[in-house]
Amino acid sequence: MTGTITAALPTTRDNAFDPPAELGVLREERPLNRLQFPDGHVGWLVTNHELVREIMADRRFSSRSELHHSVITRADGKPVRRPAATPGMFIGMDAPDHTRYRKLLTGQFTVRRMNLLSARIEEIVQEHLKAMRANGTSGDLVQAFALPIPSLVICELLGVPYDERHGFQEDTATALRLETSADEAIAAFERIKDFIRDLVRRKRANPGDDMLSGLIASGEHLDDEEITGMGVLLLVAGHETTANMLGLGTLALLGNPDQLAALKADPSLVDNTVEELLRYLSIIQFGTTRTALEDVEIAGEVIKEGDTLSLSLAAANRDPQRFDHPDRLDVHRSANGHMSFGHGVHQCLGQQLARIEMRIAYSALFAEFPDLRLAVPADEVPLRTDMAIYGVHSLPVEWS
Ligand code: HEM
Repeated sequence: MTGTITAALPTTRDNAFDPPAELGVLREERPLNRLQFPDGHVGWLVTNHELVREIMADRRFSSRSELHHSVITRADGKPVRRPAATPGMFIGMDAPDHTRYRKLLTGQFTVRRMNLLSARIEEIVQEHLKAMRANGTSGDLVQAFALPIPSLVICELLGVPYDERHGFQEDTATALRLETSADEAIAAFERIKDFIRDLVRRKRANPGDDMLSGLIASGEHLDDEEITGMGVLLLVAGHETTANMLGLGTLALLGNPDQLAALKADPSLVDNTVEELLRYLSIIQFGTTRTALEDVEIAGEVIKEGDTLSLSLAAANRDPQRFDHPDRLDVHRSANGHMSFGHGVHQCLGQQLARIEMRIAYSALFAEFPDLRLAVPADEVPLRTDMAIYGVHSLPVEWS
């Protein structure tokens, strides 16, 4: 074994937008660092863009959740050991199960469905902006805009009645909050499952035009547990992520007035802005994990079978070997190749939908409220350092 062992994953941030500075120091030191996981396992921390990408594309590194040692410590201090993925939760599986489920779900992201959804997103966004204006000249952008839009979109996708959203929104937040004990997190997750399982049964009896009904009708004889797993995965992966990109992304634009001015002056920059914000903010702050299925030699090190690797997407996105002036938000740059949606066979299945949501939402927000500004000093915005998905808890804003 070579190199010193980092005692814990660096998590302390110096400011709202940059990942922990220590990640950059480690990246400078060596391409692969040894990392002690909370349960005592000595695995690896990967901070280098090229290596993160290489490992995500290499089938010798498994996504099976039961093999991973977790970097996440819960408030009760129990080392988290994740159980094997339940049916349908294919983010924690390898081929051939992963391949089969993923293909079935990809088949549900049809051009027709995405076009219909885009039109609905336009409507949903406008309705929320109208409500903000009707409510006065200030508000919390998270509650008024950033969270409800992706929640509504995922409800439309899955055929969840929108007035039933509060339970799953609360339970997702509980499961993703690091201060939640392991038992509470499992209980919250089980409640989300119960909710989707019940929905699947309702769709079997009364099919609609949504994805769950589509999976039921796919002719693949998926059972209720499999469809439930896929539904839970979409629900959990699909709304908090995009919501936090909208909240933190708006804060980042307000905090970089020259970049916001460039976007306002040339609205066609919105696609570039979305990619750059994805790169710059890297909201999946940790938890992207792989475990070696065999001994693998890489970057001059031998990774032993059973070693877990924590892949820092945030550090990869700020790698100066890949991006010039990586710590600068630059809406003109080509941020293509960022790692925020992952890479390889598990690359985010919802990325096009997330992009559509962000494009429509940012464009309409700054068109409707060109003078949108923070209503509190920037350092008073509560940051989600306590959550698996980074962002802002609330974003007090005002407008004229
Ligand atoms: C997978 C990020 C939005 C559904 C992933 C992965 C990342 C990611 C990094 C790969 C995880 C890994 O390799 O271990 C994001 C970000 C989003 C976003 C940053 C928003 C900006 C969405 C949306 C949906 C979605 C809107 C669904 C509608 C999924 C699914 C997977 C996934 C199903 C698992 C894919 C697989 O294992 O094959 N996402 N995601 N995501 N995401 Fe997203």
